[in-house]
Amino acid sequence: MEHHENDRKIVGLAPSRNLSFYGRDIISVRQFARDDLAYIFGVASEMRSIVRRLGATDLLKGHILANLFYEPSTRTSSSFIAAMARLGGSIIPIHGVQYSSVSKGESLPDTIRTLECYADVIVLRHPEVGASEVAARYASKPIISAGDGVGEHPTQGLLDVFTILSELGRLDGLHVAMVGDLKNGRTVHSLTRLLRLYDVHFSYVSPDILRLPDEVKDEMTEAGRTFEETERVEDVIADADVLYVTRVQKERFADLREYEAVKDYYEITPELMARAKEQMAVMHPLPRVGEIHYDVDDDPRAAYFRQMENGMYIRMALLAAVLGKA
Ligand code: ASP
Ligand code: CP
Repeated sequence: MEHHENDRKIVGLAPSRNLSFYGRDIISVRQFARDDLAYIFGVASEMRSIVRRLGATDLLKGHILANLFYEPSTRTSSSFIAAMARLGGSIIPIHGVQYSSVSKGESLPDTIRTLECYADVIVLRHPEVGASEVAARYASKPIISAGDGVGEHPTQGLLDVFTILSELGRLDGLHVAMVGDLKNGRTVHSLTRLLRLYDVHFSYVSPDILRLPDEVKDEMTEAGRTFEETERVEDVIADADVLYVTRVQKERFADLREYEAVKDYYEITPELMARAKEQMAVMHPLPRVGEIHYDVDDDPRAAYFRQMENGMYIRMALLAAVLGKA
């Protein structure tokens, strides 16, 4: 949905500082330019200092978020809940759709129409690519995608770029290596697309059957970004500034024998980390199921726990922005 500045005058609100986010859906990272990221990261940094100093604020008091998850989640669902709670708002949690009227056969459009009667913003995770876009067509309130199948996970992409910036202090000039299930990993698709806005060189490290889709590679080439593809982490680890490791997405395989063949392809170990730069970041959207050895966790370059904390600040920023309060 799109709100206009005029709507704000009609309801007696002051003009919003950032016209481009108020009332907007967040469906794909393709909608963002560098300026948008600078703005979101600025608000997220403010949110981080509010949480660290005060714990919470009442910026979104009286506002309600519907958290609608058709797929499992720990981080995204709970960080949106925490974000809304820390901003003083309330939550309608629908995390097991089997206990909602979805199990009676209610369609996505009708479920969305229902929730927007009660909530001011809807967060949606769904197994089908394009589901958030469909939801946004039916909703007059903002829809924020929390992941649509193998498509995108835009809020994860934003928190990933924010984390790279927090860890390394820059984005231009970096070498980013993506490792694992680049075919089905929606976080990889969103992060790669966002990083095309910067002067980043990519290495795509995956088994042959899990390569990054041509569509995403073509977008990189069009944006003037360079990349190479390899099956071996050993080929890239010494030069990488960011090692973005991902889980093989078992739930996307029609043939589980294919999954079994590639599930243990990569494991980042302290021995492998000994070859990496002194200043670099190991990231993972999580959950991990063996791709990063637990012995790496104490390495100062292991950024994945800080990364998931950043998710809450980014989601606080996004909620405030789409509700016109950032
Ligand atoms: N949690 C991320 C996602 O939902 C990554 C993963 O599940 O592997 O896409
Ligand atoms: N990174 C992420 O989306 O985690 P969850 O699947 O636990 O939400």
